[in-house]
Amino acid sequence: MQGIDTDIAPRVIVGDTLHSVAEAVAAAVAGHVAGAPSAVLGLATGATMVPVYAALVRAHRDTGLSFARCTSFNLDEYVGLAATHPASFARFMQAHLFAHADFAAAATHLPRGMARDLAREADRYERAIADAGGIGLQVLGIGANGHIGFNEPGSAFDTRTRVVDLAAPTRAANQAGFPPGEPVPARALTMGIATILGAGQLVLAATGARKAAAVAACITGAIGPHCPASALRLHPRVTIILDRAAASRLN
Ligand code: F6R
Repeated sequence: MQGIDTDIAPRVIVGDTLHSVAEAVAAAVAGHVAGAPSAVLGLATGATMVPVYAALVRAHRDTGLSFARCTSFNLDEYVGLAATHPASFARFMQAHLFAHADFAAAATHLPRGMARDLAREADRYERAIADAGGIGLQVLGIGANGHIGFNEPGSAFDTRTRVVDLAAPTRAANQAGFPPGEPVPARALTMGIATILGAGQLVLAATGARKAAAVAACITGAIGPHCPASALRLHPRVTIILDRAAASRLN
């Protein structure tokens, strides 16, 4: 594989505790919104984001941080799940953030996993992001296989919102969110890597030893589609916030 050279280095912050990682990610979001009350935020789901959103909810409640003029776009949603499904990302966002802060419901967006024409839905989502003026700050988690959004290894860096097949380890990792006996959908709609790189600023959070190899590949490995998160090194404004376990394979 051809290597890509870049002189751009992400800012890497290592926190002592899960709590300090969540607080640092939340502070980045809060700082962005304080400076731009009509911010367009890119949001992620997953276990890493639970304490981040709890910190944002606390900031909303205790410091008056307001999202009332913000617009949000989530990275992804499962194909075939209604927004009301208990394991949908739409439900996750309601449970952990939207129901506890002052986002305007009409300004929060997720791809519609139940759309009849998924290619059209993907195009509509890309257009909606562009029509909103593009994403100012995008929050990201990382998969143990290096995925960002649901851009699994092998995803080209010029991809935009589209339907993807989920990798077996991704489906296994997300099984716990589903009712017993119900399989994780095989496909999802996800923003593409080019969509993500189009944001003004990226903040990636990773916690736990399970992420250490992917974090090392992202920050110090070769840049290429084998590690979708390595694409972040092509972006000039990236902050990566880790706990000690996730940072344990960095030199
Ligand atoms: C979720 C998403 C994924 C997750 C990643 C990490 O919207 O886009 O890339 O950020 O799978 O998930 P957790 O935090 O559950 O380990």
